[in-house]
Amino acid sequence: MKVGVLGSGTVARTLAMALIERDHRVMMGTRDPAKLGEWMNENPLALVGSFSDAAAYADVVLLAVKGLASADALRAAGRANLAGKVVIDATNPIADVPPTNGVLKFFTTLDDSLMERLQREFPDACFVKAFNSVGSSQFANPQFRSGKPTMFICGNNDEAKAITAQILEQFGWETADMGKVESARAIEPPVHVVVHSRIHQERVDARVQTAPRVAGPLVAHSPYTEEGSMAADKTFYLETFGCQMNAHDSEKVIGTLRQQGYRQVESEEDAGLILYNTCSIRDKAEQKVFNRLNDYKKLHKKGKRFGVLGCVAQQEGEKIFERAPYVSLVSGSASYRKLPEMLTRLEAGESRITGLDDRQTDETFETEFTARQNPYRGYITIIEGCDKFCSYCVVPYTRGKERSRSSSSVLNEARRIADLGYTEIQLLGQNVNSYRDPEGKRGFAELLAAVGEVEGIRRVRFTTSHPRDFTPDIVEAIDRVPTLCDHVHLPVQSGSADVLRRMAREYTPEWYLERIAWIKAARRPISISTDIIVGFPGESDDDFIRTMDLLAEVEYDCVFAFKYSARPNTPALVMIDTVPDDEKAKRLQVLLERQREIQRVNYSKQIGQILEVMVEGANPERGQIAGRSSQNKPVNFTYPQPIAPAPGSYLQVRITGAYPNSLVGEAV
Ligand code: 5AD
Ligand code: SF4
Repeated sequence: MKVGVLGSGTVARTLAMALIERDHRVMMGTRDPAKLGEWMNENPLALVGSFSDAAAYADVVLLAVKGLASADALRAAGRANLAGKVVIDATNPIADVPPTNGVLKFFTTLDDSLMERLQREFPDACFVKAFNSVGSSQFANPQFRSGKPTMFICGNNDEAKAITAQILEQFGWETADMGKVESARAIEPPVHVVVHSRIHQERVDARVQTAPRVAGPLVAHSPYTEEGSMAADKTFYLETFGCQMNAHDSEKVIGTLRQQGYRQVESEEDAGLILYNTCSIRDKAEQKVFNRLNDYKKLHKKGKRFGVLGCVAQQEGEKIFERAPYVSLVSGSASYRKLPEMLTRLEAGESRITGLDDRQTDETFETEFTARQNPYRGYITIIEGCDKFCSYCVVPYTRGKERSRSSSSVLNEARRIADLGYTEIQLLGQNVNSYRDPEGKRGFAELLAAVGEVEGIRRVRFTTSHPRDFTPDIVEAIDRVPTLCDHVHLPVQSGSADVLRRMAREYTPEWYLERIAWIKAARRPISISTDIIVGFPGESDDDFIRTMDLLAEVEYDCVFAFKYSARPNTPALVMIDTVPDDEKAKRLQVLLERQREIQRVNYSKQIGQILEVMVEGANPERGQIAGRSSQNKPVNFTYPQPIAPAPGSYLQVRITGAYPNSLVGEAV
């Protein structure tokens, strides 16, 4: 049988070896043939091609690709003619790729509780625990060094198990039945492979019965790797500027592009379509985008297409085509749900496609195909747009009117990503707490609590809150639901009543401080952070001193401070900007220095405490692990074991030292 193994990692190589030993012909499909170079010298019996080559070549396709690459591989398999082929996908669930046509989806996971949850959700699925003696870390359990690749099958559906065993035996694996999911838990440390046998069961069945076993010599070069085989490959490069909302929009845009058959690449040079997701909240953002487009003008001559997305796109609109005629697509965030249609037009050769007229829409951009870039923190947008119209701010003009997603859809997404192994959720919105459930089922605080109660979720954050919609029930929810993090970001912008009035913030400092008092009265200490603008038109020395007083009173744990910058279309644009730039810079400096002292005191108060920290990474040079506390403070700590804890795991850390922006400690 001709088998295509998509992937170049240890699992892919292990599978390929096992197949070659059993006289199957194998073509390894990879994005990066060089990765297989050395391995090929020792194992010249496999052919090497692109993902599409391997899928076109094979009778049966095995996907052994993790993370982002798995989406590409799935699509390559999908593009090739799959009629009569069986595709088995051993990808990691993090890729968030749904089972596609003709694909028998495997999930590999190390987590028993996830397996149990999946069994509940997919009663027809059965699970395979894979071990063998070849050197992969995942497969190297000494308990099972039988010398033969063995798949241990467990599951509650006997029929599904029988089909799975049949398929695996066709590939030359030994199989062993471990009974039901619960009893299989005893075997440590497993790799679970969940097989959705249900999907295309009959076809798989038929295939297994008829698949010929073809043995014979294999040729060590591929007829499929010649130039041109990738010509149909649609590639894109996407760069994101700005806030978390933009970063998460990009995750959804990437997912949508992949769904349309595009492959993401790392550089403009390699891409057919170059996209910028832009931000225009401050500075001369639009100028930066134009400079950037200008730099890449020469790329256009190579036939590349350009698209500008996000706030600069919405703000500048069709003017972009005038200044950068080689741009073909201009779309604001309110139009992203129309991206598939816009991409089809782009592919048909249209050159001035716009998504600019949707700012009054009630619809939000919801997609199942979010390509999450962070493996443990999942972002969920619950409300888009803004209706507040602060006088300095472009957001209501660029992101359009406020519209919330239904709380059921938010909760479904939360459950879905919890099932994929995410433990932290961050709810996003320009004014996240202005949330209004279109179904009328839950207020913001209720939704927050419900997300915190989703099984598997350990931390919930939300950003950004507006003081006007900040209600006591948010603090009560944090008090009641342990998974809601001890942190509130509540932008104040200024400590002067006069400036706040001209900013159209519609509250006074006293009114704001009342909300701060609620937060400080919570049963557990809640960290507070804020945004401040210095040098707003007409801000006097006195006004600035009031801001400094407010800083001293609240004692924030973190402050994002900005010099005011005039933005197109906003009411503040016509106010006389009385504060010269060097004065703004001076005020910013004074404010940041004062705040640094406040944080030095705040952070040092935590010395001696034991905090739960979620691991984000390691700094081997300093021998430290980096993570974050529930209060969102960075914690760098030492860890006694030789192997660093995995990102996304939770540890107790004793705090031994403090800086103004981070804590230092040791794992206990
Ligand atoms: N100038 C300076 N800062 C601004 N922000 C928003 N608009 C402007 C502007 N025109 C800041 C506010 C807001 C944060 C996201 O950016 O502090 O809370
Ligand atoms: Fe801008 Fe004000 Fe809306 Fe925030 S609340 S996005 S600062 S207009």
